[in-house]
Amino acid sequence: MPSKRSNVPPFIVMDVMAASAQIEATGARVVHMEVGQPAAPAPATALKAAKAALAGRIGYTETLGIPTLRARIARHYADTYDVALNPGRVVVTTGSSGGFILAFLALFETGDRVALANPGYPPYRHILSALGCEPVLIETSADTRWALSAKALIAVHRKKPLAGVVIASPANPTGTMMDADALARLIAVAETEGIRVISDEIYHGLDYAFAAETAAKVSARAVVINSFSKYFCMTGWRVGWMVVPESLVRPIERLQGNLAISVPTLAQVAAEAAFDGRDEMEAVKHGYEENRRILTEGLPKAGLDKFLPVDGAFYLYADISRSSDDSLDFAKRMLEQAHVAATPGIDFDPVNGHNFLRFCYAGSAAEMHEAVERISAWLKA
Ligand SMILES: Cc1ncc(COP(=O)(O)O)c(C=O)c1O
Repeated sequence: MPSKRSNVPPFIVMDVMAASAQIEATGARVVHMEVGQPAAPAPATALKAAKAALAGRIGYTETLGIPTLRARIARHYADTYDVALNPGRVVVTTGSSGGFILAFLALFETGDRVALANPGYPPYRHILSALGCEPVLIETSADTRWALSAKALIAVHRKKPLAGVVIASPANPTGTMMDADALARLIAVAETEGIRVISDEIYHGLDYAFAAETAAKVSARAVVINSFSKYFCMTGWRVGWMVVPESLVRPIERLQGNLAISVPTLAQVAAEAAFDGRDEMEAVKHGYEENRRILTEGLPKAGLDKFLPVDGAFYLYADISRSSDDSLDFAKRMLEQAHVAATPGIDFDPVNGHNFLRFCYAGSAAEMHEAVERISAWLKA
C-alpha cells in the first residue's frame, strides 16, 4: 500500500490539458489559457551559455549552487531592490518547487501549523501535508486585495499557534499583489509572534500595477523563494533560488546535499547567463502587458465582467458566478464548445473556487483576441 502521506490531490489543470489534447486530436484548435507558463523560450544568452557548456564535462556542482551564480543572484538584489545581500545566503534550488521542500524541512517540525492564503497555489498545501505539517487556509477578500492580512493571521494564531506563513505577491491564481506597506506589516507582525515567513517571489519582474517588494528588504529572517521559471521563461530548466537567514544555510546545505547532491549543472550555467538577457525578457513582459489590456477591456464586453485586480504574474481570476456555480463544468463546456481552455478555481480554492476561473495570459496577443471573441460568441449563444 502507498503511504497515507503520498495521498495528495492531483492538479486538475492536468485534466484540462488532457481534455484539450483530445479536442485537438479531432483537428480543432484550442486557445490554451490553462497552464501557467510562458510561451517564449529562455533568453538567447542562456541558450548560448548552455550550448557552450555542453562541449565540456557536466559534473556535480557545489550543493548550494555554482558560486558565480550565487553571486550574480545576490547582485540582482542590489540592482533591483537596492538590498545588499551576502551571496553566502543564496541557495540555488531545483525550481522554486525544490525551494519549498527545503524551506519547509528546515523550518518546521511534523505537526506544525502553517498559514496559507485561500485561494492559493495548491502545492504549498500538498507539500506541507506530505511532510506531515498542517496547512491552515485563511480566507482572503477584496478588502485586503485578496492577500493575507496581519489582522487575519493573528486572529488564527491566537486560536491555535502557527509556526509559519507562506505569502506570495504577485500571487497565483489571483494575480493580485500586496503593496510594500502591507507586506512589511504582515512580516513584522508574524515575526514578532515567532511565525516564520516564507515569501514566494516567483512572479517578481511581472508586476504591472506597482513594483513588487522583496521580503529580503524587510527582514533577514524571512525565507525568500524565487525561480527562473516565469520572468526568465525557463520552466523546464528547473532552476530557482532561495535567500535564507544565515542560520539556515548549513542545515539547507545538508538537506540538499542528501536529497539532490546538487541542482542540474547545465540549468545553473544557463540561469547565470539569463541575467544578461533582461532586454529580451522585458520585451516578453511588455507582451503580457498588452495581453492584460486586451483581456481587461475585452472580457467585460464578452460577458465576464467581474475579476480580481489584475496586478501581476500572468493570471486573470474571473468570477463566473453570474453564469455558473460549477467552475469545473463551466471550464469543460467552454473548452468543448468555445475551444478555450482555462483552469477551474476549485484547483486553487476548496471553498469558493466553484465560482472562479483562472485565465493565463502568457500567450500571444492574437490568441487573447481570439479567446475574447470565442468566449463572447459562446456566452451570447
Ligand atoms: C506561485 C507559484 N509558486 C511556485 C511555482 C513553482 O514553479 P517552479 O518550480 O517552476 O519554480 C509556481 C508554478 O506555477 C507558482 O505558480
